[in-house]
Amino acid sequence: MKFFIDSADIDEIKKANGMGLVDGVTTNPTLIKKAGRDHQQTIEEISSIIDGPISVETLGQTCDEMLAEADTYLTWGDNIVIKIVMTPEGMKAVKELKKRNVKTNVTLVFSPLQALIAAKAGATYISPFLGRLDDIGHDGLTIIDQIRTIFDNYAYDTQILAASIRHPMHILSAAQIGADVATIPASTLLRLFDHPLTANGIDSFLSDAKQWLHAKA
Ligand code: E4P
Repeated sequence: MKFFIDSADIDEIKKANGMGLVDGVTTNPTLIKKAGRDHQQTIEEISSIIDGPISVETLGQTCDEMLAEADTYLTWGDNIVIKIVMTPEGMKAVKELKKRNVKTNVTLVFSPLQALIAAKAGATYISPFLGRLDDIGHDGLTIIDQIRTIFDNYAYDTQILAASIRHPMHILSAAQIGADVATIPASTLLRLFDHPLTANGIDSFLSDAKQWLHAKA
């Protein structure tokens, strides 16, 4: 499973990348706002740090507007993926970008049928938003399971990018179902290392080692 970082915060991205865990990055307008820096500069910097795909979201509502934005974003790095919302105009843009060999990430996917449409349009990635579905009392993981079945039935090579991850169990379940990628907030990524038995084990090994190190000295 590939791990993307869901962030536009350069320090967070550098830290996660330093752990050797980052296969790519996803951004969105909210994350850019949170980072509080110029959009282009932020993406260019991320692109210079990370080798893998960097998703940059279009804001236009029409296919032509999205394609014009894509032309601009593609000059910001050689690993840019154009993030496009799940609308009829968006799917027209995905189809056109596919013809131009440009990678796309269809975002705000909340149903398996939306995922099917995006795969038919030729999306590189589709992003089902787990947490936001859970927030309204739906089961985000069921949607991922349904999408996995559909893509396998028809051998679509569109990758399932589990998004809106809220906690480590989302990642575990998405991995069991067979999502290709999880895009993870940096704080959640760090929590994957945690286990109380690991922490206790380290403490007791260190305290035992201190005793024989002392005895030797
Ligand atoms: C995915 O690409 C989105 O940026 C992200 O996962 C949205 O997550 P949120 O629901 O926590 O805003």
